[in-house]
Formats: sequence, C-alpha cells, structure tokens
Amino acid sequence: MKILTIIGARPQFIKAAVLSRYIRNNPSCGITETLLHTGQHYDQNMSDIFFTEMEIPQPDINLCVGSGSHGKTTGLMLEKIEEVIIDRKPDTILVYGDTNSTLSGTLAASKLHVPVAHVEAGLRSFMMAMPEEQNRRLTDHLSTWLFCPTQTAVDNLTREGILNQDNNTLPSPDNKCVIMTGDIMYDASIYYRNKSNIQIKEKDFILLTIHRAENTDDPVRLTSIVNAVNSLSDYKFIFPVHPRTRKVLEQQKLIFNSHVKMIEPVGYLEMIAYESACTAILTDSGGVQKEAYFFNKPCITMRDSTEWVELVTTGWNTLTGADTKKIITAVKNLHTPEHSPALYGDGNCAEKICDILKQQEL
Ligand code: UD1
Ligand code: UDP
Repeated sequence: MKILTIIGARPQFIKAAVLSRYIRNNPSCGITETLLHTGQHYDQNMSDIFFTEMEIPQPDINLCVGSGSHGKTTGLMLEKIEEVIIDRKPDTILVYGDTNSTLSGTLAASKLHVPVAHVEAGLRSFMMAMPEEQNRRLTDHLSTWLFCPTQTAVDNLTREGILNQDNNTLPSPDNKCVIMTGDIMYDASIYYRNKSNIQIKEKDFILLTIHRAENTDDPVRLTSIVNAVNSLSDYKFIFPVHPRTRKVLEQQKLIFNSHVKMIEPVGYLEMIAYESACTAILTDSGGVQKEAYFFNKPCITMRDSTEWVELVTTGWNTLTGADTKKIITAVKNLHTPEHSPALYGDGNCAEKICDILKQQEL
C-alpha cells in the first residue's frame, strides 16, 4: 500500500516520527510511505530540528508554502497537494491532527477519491470559532479511517453519526472505520524519553507555552495572561516562545518581567527534558497538556475548553481561560494528583494503525 503522509506543523513532525519509524522498521506490513511537508512551519527550530533529532527521513516533497492568511495558505497547499496526488497516485492519504495542512490534504484527497486516514480523530473543543475545530470536524467527516486517541473521541464521533458501519464492505468515506488506538504522542514520549540525555540546569520552574490563535490574536486575552504571569513573581518560568507569539508580543509591546526566561523554541528532546525537570506546566498547547501528564506534572491550561477532558476530570489539568485571577489562583493551588490512570492507550498506537491500514489490501 502506498501512503502519502501530509505534515506541516511542529506537532505533526513529532506524531509522524513514531508512525514513520514503525513503517520503516516493519516492511512486512506492506506499507510504503511518501512524506510530504507543506512548509507551513519552516524555521530551523520549528521544522528541521525535529527531522534531524527524531530521525525522521527528509521529506520526499516540500511544498514550501510558508506563512500567510488561512485562505491563502490552505488554498496554496490544496492546489499543490492535488498535483502530487495526481502524479504519485497514492492508495491512501494520512493526515494528523487539526492544522491547515491537515485540512488541505484531506480536501485534495477527498475530491480525487483517495481515502483519508486521520490520526487524532474525534477530538472536539465545541468551539467552532477555533481554526483547529473547523479543520478537525471537516477532516473527520471526510475521512475513511478515524484513529481516535481516547474513548471520549470515539464518543464525540458517535454523537455526530460517525461510527463503524458495515464490516463486510471495504472502508470508504461512506463506510467508515472508527478505531480507538490510543494517543500517538504517548508512543513518542515513551520512545524519546530514553533518547533524551539533555540535562536542564534550572530547578523549581514552571514551563510556559502560549501560541494558540484564541490567545495571541486577542490583545485583551494576551494582556491578561501576561499580567497573570508577571504577578507571579515568586515563581520562575521558562518560556520557549513560538514565533507567532514573539511577533505579537513585540507588536503589542507586552513585556514579561525578569522571572520569566524567554528562550527560542526548542527541539522535542530538549522540550521533554524541560517537561521532565519542571514543577508544573502553564500552557495553551494541545500536545503539551498531555505531555504534562506523561511526565507526571500538574498542568494549567489557559483555554476556555479542552479536547483532553479526561485530564480535567482526573484533576491533572485546570482550565483557567485567559482570566488573570484564575491563572494566579490555579498556580498558587497547584497540586499533583495521586493517581495516573492509563488514559492514552498502551503505547502501541503506531502498530494498531498499521495493522488496520494493511487490511485494506483484502
Ligand atoms: C499552527 C496550527 C495550530 C497548532 C500550531 C502548532 C493552524 C490553523 N494552526 O498554528 O493548530 O497548534 O501550528 O505549533 O494550522 N511562524 C514563523 N516561523 C515558522 C512558523 C510560523 O515565523 O516556522 C510565524 C509566522 O508569523 C506565521 C505565524 O507564526 O504567520 C503563525 O503560523 P501558522 O502556521 O499560521 O499557525 P500557528 O500559530 O503556528
Ligand atoms: N514543542 C517543542 N518545542 C517547543 C514547544 C513545543 O518540541 O519549543 C513540542 C511539544 O513537546 C509537543 C508539541 O511541540 O510535542 C506541541 O506542539 P504545539 O504546542 O506547537 O502545538 P499543539 O499541540 O497545541 O497543536
């Protein structure tokens, strides 16, 4: 089976590293993969570093679309991916998560009747204004294989009428295959924690990340977050700054005080070393919320809702939105819950995905 994998943004490189390695190491699954990088992320430390240190093969194709408005970049990717599909004739397109690269790949494939496999299907924030929610809902509805990281994700799909249909007919966009595989980022954290020997010299710090559009594009929310972090001067923060956020902070002339150490975005191995060394995590990232759990750290999420609801119900994650008072209170009341149930599978997500996909060749 010829798979065309479409990636473009930082978390997708991390997810693809796991599945791509599994495919290469298991030729008996009969899958060959072509890796297409849309170029949505392109800075050395937002892209190349992941390929090098996570041993992901260099992309076979890089569309180099770069940054721009949603319409412009999504449109450019759609046009170019369509050409690649016509030229390479893959059997299946594989997409990850909920970025504009995900949606472009899905649309291009669907219109050409190439089935789509969606890894990280079924997640919902129930906030349609989020670009990620738009991308993931559309992708799920067009996909043939929906690989869900959690039972919550399967249930979300069921509520939308997306469920396993006739087992005797080959899967198609009208006869979907919905499978709970566990979370591929859990697989990544298990594999790479043994590879990371980076020592973090700082101690007693909170790891901070901010990049989501709902916070960075809204000056009121961003100011409220900066004010909260600046008020917490008894705590030390380390903040790898996403280029989007750096740009907005400069434009808005928002300044963090000296107890916040701002650094450039780091590679995955350094990031998980920070996650392992910190006392807690303050974030609006999807992936970082879960990694907090993988590294046994309490997390505060500066969003109004989360797709990873099981972290909230088990007490590992506190949602504060961008509210200054709520963020301050949550940081002051940080505690580590006693129990860590297996929320994200057994670490064999890649194997499960390949097992399902290879059955397509019936
Ligand atoms: C994208 C995803 C988001 C995901 C995030 C992961 C969409 C709609 N959003 O958001 O879901 O959480 O990736 O990090 O797909 N920039 C650079 N260099 C880079 C990349 C980006 O300078 O290598 C700057 C540019 O100014 C760009 C801005 O960041 O305009 C935003 O980049 P973009 O890819 O549009 O969205 P992200 O915020 O990264
Ligand atoms: N990450 C990283 N370096 C950083 C910040 C994040 O390697 O400086 C990793 C992080 O460990 C996680 C992924 O990027 O695996 C999360 O991506 P991001 O927060 O950009 O996007 P989201 O998960 O919110 O879509």
